[in-house]
Amino acid sequence: MFVHWGLYAIPAGEWNGRTDYGEWIRNNARIPIDVYDQFQARFNPAKFDPDAWVRMAKAAGMQYIVITTKHHDGFALFDSKGTTWDVMATPYGRDIIAQLADACRRGGIRLGLYYSIMDWHHPDYLPRREWEAASRPESGADFDRYVAFMKGQLKELLTGYGPVGVLWFDGQWEPTWTAARGRDLYGYVRRLQPSIIVNNRVGEGVGDFGTPEQEIPATGLAGAAWETCMTMNRNWGFNRADKDFKSAETLRRNLVDIASKGGNFLLNVGPTADGEFPAESVERLRQIGDFMRAAGESIHGTQASPFPFLPWGRCTQRRLDANTTRLYLHVWDRPADGVLVVPGLLNHVRRARPMTTVDTPFGLPVERKGEDLHISLGLITGPGPALDDVIVVDIAGAPRVKTQK
Ligand code: GLC
Repeated sequence: MFVHWGLYAIPAGEWNGRTDYGEWIRNNARIPIDVYDQFQARFNPAKFDPDAWVRMAKAAGMQYIVITTKHHDGFALFDSKGTTWDVMATPYGRDIIAQLADACRRGGIRLGLYYSIMDWHHPDYLPRREWEAASRPESGADFDRYVAFMKGQLKELLTGYGPVGVLWFDGQWEPTWTAARGRDLYGYVRRLQPSIIVNNRVGEGVGDFGTPEQEIPATGLAGAAWETCMTMNRNWGFNRADKDFKSAETLRRNLVDIASKGGNFLLNVGPTADGEFPAESVERLRQIGDFMRAAGESIHGTQASPFPFLPWGRCTQRRLDANTTRLYLHVWDRPADGVLVVPGLLNHVRRARPMTTVDTPFGLPVERKGEDLHISLGLITGPGPALDDVIVVDIAGAPRVKTQK
């Protein structure tokens, strides 16, 4: 679960009659810094319940939460000693990240931290936004001093909140952020928490995993670990007017698609200024949870599909032991005649059975037709639109797939 939360949840996407802003609102609506600063005095999320967030994430089958500790507006959701531009100077006055870290520990889910390198608030960050070059002149700014400030904040985050699973950088694309600075920062983070992993937005040519945004790469990212991050509606931060939510079915199939290509899915929630998840997000998490309870084994800890293409859906796999591989066939389009053709699978099949419907005593009938396997689903009733069929096929050895021309 990705969580985008900060002061921008207060305007909730709306400024001067326009309603399509998100976490970029200060920049996109060109809100002067002293005007934006006033949101700090209004931040008081009375309904923030970190244990409820953790429960919802876990019930959706999620295994880690990545939260914005500081987004591009520079505002810190944690107790940062080097600045007053943080949650401690709000009416709320309590460290959000500390509370979430505790809840994650209690709930047994990993915590990851998002941190924006770009900072529209710190006086030493360069460059300025073009539109405020006159009101916030660059004179006197010192980028090295900014980097020292940033490292100070990262040290707070990596020494004060227990083990952190992921450091998720962002906002690395401005010209001041050189490849050398990225390499240095990567090393700095890894020294503070040697078992952490760091995303590739730490800087050019470094990082432990790729971060496709709002897209699923057609064939995954060859030879690299990766994670697609995606919003449920159009915005990362809370936008009251944005009701354009993807359906639970689309999100569920995105998850399967991503897993079949060897990636992880970082699905975003943008909490309200009160600290609650939008009702639409709660509902979608719940429905994803229904799927994960039935078929989570076909997602967690699996590997990419051995098939280059399957006309009816997707496949994930898991090595069970030295002699057996388990394939999970996600059937999105149930064949009209009830016969699922698995193209070019040469292995001996030990057993095929339905995962999301009631099993038959002897498993599903499997027939070899040349290089293809024919699995008869005809005997079972489909689980209906809420779930999709998942068929579990145990085969001898590692998958051997003959690819058709
Ligand atoms: C972009 C945006 C940012 C969002 C991020 C998530 O880089 O600048 O608002 O946090 O993507 O991947």
